[in-house]
Amino acid sequence: MIRHLLSAADLDADTATLILDTAAEMATVAGREVKKLPALRGRTVVNLFYEDSTRTRISFEAAAKRLSADVINFSAKGSSVAKGESLKDTALTLQAMGADAVVVRHPASGAPHRLADWVDGSVVNAGDGTHEHPTQALLDAYTMRSRLGRLAGLSVAIVGDVLHSRVARSNVLLLSTLGAKVTLVGPPTLIPVDIPAALAPGTQVSYDLDAVLPDADVVMMLRVQRERMGDSYFPSAREYARRYGLDAPRMRRLAEHAIVMHPGPMNRGMEISPEVADSPRSTIVEQVTNGVSVRMAVLYLLLGGK
Ligand code: NCD
Repeated sequence: MIRHLLSAADLDADTATLILDTAAEMATVAGREVKKLPALRGRTVVNLFYEDSTRTRISFEAAAKRLSADVINFSAKGSSVAKGESLKDTALTLQAMGADAVVVRHPASGAPHRLADWVDGSVVNAGDGTHEHPTQALLDAYTMRSRLGRLAGLSVAIVGDVLHSRVARSNVLLLSTLGAKVTLVGPPTLIPVDIPAALAPGTQVSYDLDAVLPDADVVMMLRVQRERMGDSYFPSAREYARRYGLDAPRMRRLAEHAIVMHPGPMNRGMEISPEVADSPRSTIVEQVTNGVSVRMAVLYLLLGGK
């Protein structure tokens, strides 16, 4: 097993499949009255969040607790980071406290890689800037596999703000490792020309959502990340929704079995309409549930589980 999970590119097909299979076993724990395993008793997991998060932070916390680890939640607000403490000094503090794993979210791409040089424990990237979010890709793959029965050969359309999306990057890497075919869809301003081929050869690009929908097994909608946008990347929210938003009439172009995903948080009415988000095709709530099992599997395997 690998020591850190920094990028979806750290995972070969066997390791990724082992994580998904382990997550399926972990999911059975969630169905029990006592949702707990003793596997990580006495181990310490630190959640180090320098950026806002709801789902991911709670999910890692629940995962560590279900494995009986001690969990320390650190958020940059209200800590000495607000006083200007560097990432390195914070890392050394965690090290001194004996953290076995550090789960880190940071606005700077590459911060988890730096952190991995400074601590002895395992580092898990919970989202770094616009770079990567490997456990999101794993929970997305898990969700596709459990809904559609396989990953190899699936056609996956990833739609919207690809430029700012660490979710898209990690998904392209992992899905190509696992044999799915990815098409990135969005306005040309939000799909960097060099990205698709550099990440994974064979990744397709389209600027026409309606043309892509009939052949997709999975449509993954991305949040328009206004907080990371300096300039104007499209004329207006209305125009964006009209061309790239998934609404009910568009959803009818999908094949019977196709599913709709979104990592959350959603801009309802922009990239996805409420009708679509709440439809039976939507896996949005399942993705959150599956996230806990997948993160349990990651922590368990990184910290030496068999
Ligand atoms: C994503 C993230 O933070 O990268 N959300 C998440 O982890 N569930 C996607 C986003 O913020 O749009």
